[in-house]
Amino acid sequence: MRIIFFAGKGGVGKTCVASATGIKSSEAGHRTVIMSLDVAHSLSDIFNLDRNLLDQNKGKPVKLGENLWIQELDIQEEIEKNWAKIHSYISTLLNTAGLDDILAGELAILPGMEEVSMLLYINRYVIEKTFDVIILDCAPTGESLRFISIPTTLEWYMKKIFRIQRTIIKYVRPVAERIYDVPLPGDDYFAAIENLFDRLKGVDAILVDPKITTVRLVTNPEKIVLKETQRAFMYFCLYNMNIDAIIINRILPDEVNDAYFKDWICNQKQYIDKAKDYFSPIPIFPVNLFKGEVLGYNDLKELADQIYGNRNPLDRFFEGKPYNLTKQNGEYQLMINLPFLEKKDIEISKLSDELIVRIAGFKRHILLPRQVAATKSVKATLEGRELCIHFKGEDHGKRKE
Ligand SMILES: Nc1ncnc2c1ncn2[C@@H]1O[C@H](COP(=O)(O)OP(=O)(O)OP(=O)(O)O)[C@@H](O)[C@H]1O
Ligand SMILES: [Mg+2]
Repeated sequence: MRIIFFAGKGGVGKTCVASATGIKSSEAGHRTVIMSLDVAHSLSDIFNLDRNLLDQNKGKPVKLGENLWIQELDIQEEIEKNWAKIHSYISTLLNTAGLDDILAGELAILPGMEEVSMLLYINRYVIEKTFDVIILDCAPTGESLRFISIPTTLEWYMKKIFRIQRTIIKYVRPVAERIYDVPLPGDDYFAAIENLFDRLKGVDAILVDPKITTVRLVTNPEKIVLKETQRAFMYFCLYNMNIDAIIINRILPDEVNDAYFKDWICNQKQYIDKAKDYFSPIPIFPVNLFKGEVLGYNDLKELADQIYGNRNPLDRFFEGKPYNLTKQNGEYQLMINLPFLEKKDIEISKLSDELIVRIAGFKRHILLPRQVAATKSVKATLEGRELCIHFKGEDHGKRKE
């Protein structure tokens, strides 16, 4: 089983590169599905397919060739399948707040429902071995980060909030329902959440297992795009995901020597060199700008040949460990590979068994192993490309005070 994420800034060529990789994988005989994580689905457009084909298939995989499928979710279908109870409670709530039925139904599609539905598919495909390879065409950076944060956020929610909420509601219901007009969620609502969570079990481990899952960042040789690639790089590391290649797309080919493009060519060369510095030792795959847009199977195949040449696209081109927890001189240290970080951007706090890392407006809860959670103080230092978090003062309940 192999899962490859293609992520990057909007418009850099993620869908093309993901599709090209899917084609190469399927032609090598692996049953491959390319799934779109982007609400603005464009897989069918890149493959130059009739949109109706996908619409009629109601979000299920569409077979394109002997070993190739593409899948674009249909959120309405997913709601009926996975979210009926949750969606109906939230619609009722919005309806009570004065919105009409149709609008309440539309607004009750919560952020995250589509992503969780996608995770449910991934989990099922892995468990049932439906495909050999899953290629994920991500939405632009911000949204794809929300996607990868969902398993940990949900785990946190289930551990810290869910049970308490369910219990409180059970006890306050008889009183609250007499006082307030707002309907409280029934136990079927909580049971539905629990059931979804059960069906997601294991997916978090799959996404951080470098033997199964790797991330490839697609970028262009331009200042702002590279900047965002660095940010994405850091966040994927923070989520413990293994990045195994950087694809620099839209490079002006050598045969372009028109004076008009002189500055473009010179700048692109500089940014490619910078990218090598930034991301080393992760391999960089350069791809030229095509003469026209990349559209349809043959163009995508040509793109795949440019990216991978004779290499096997399913290889893990780099294996690193974003996290490393060690114990030295009785002190635990958590090293997180977070290049491009400045001290002012980072805030660390520890709350019982969780470490909360805030980086420039982005927050991640890391659940700590028991021994580490028992330590008393936490201090962070930046050591080269690594953020080193020191946990001091073990407290195994043996302290004499
Ligand atoms: N190497 C290339 N040469 C020429 N055109 C390209 C190349 N790579 C991508 N394109 C074109 O750029 C456009 C955007 O590509 P694509 O849809 O793959 O980007 P994306 O990163 O998925 O965008 P979004 O963030 O909107 O999902 C498409 O029209 C595609 O044909
Ligand atoms: Mg896209």
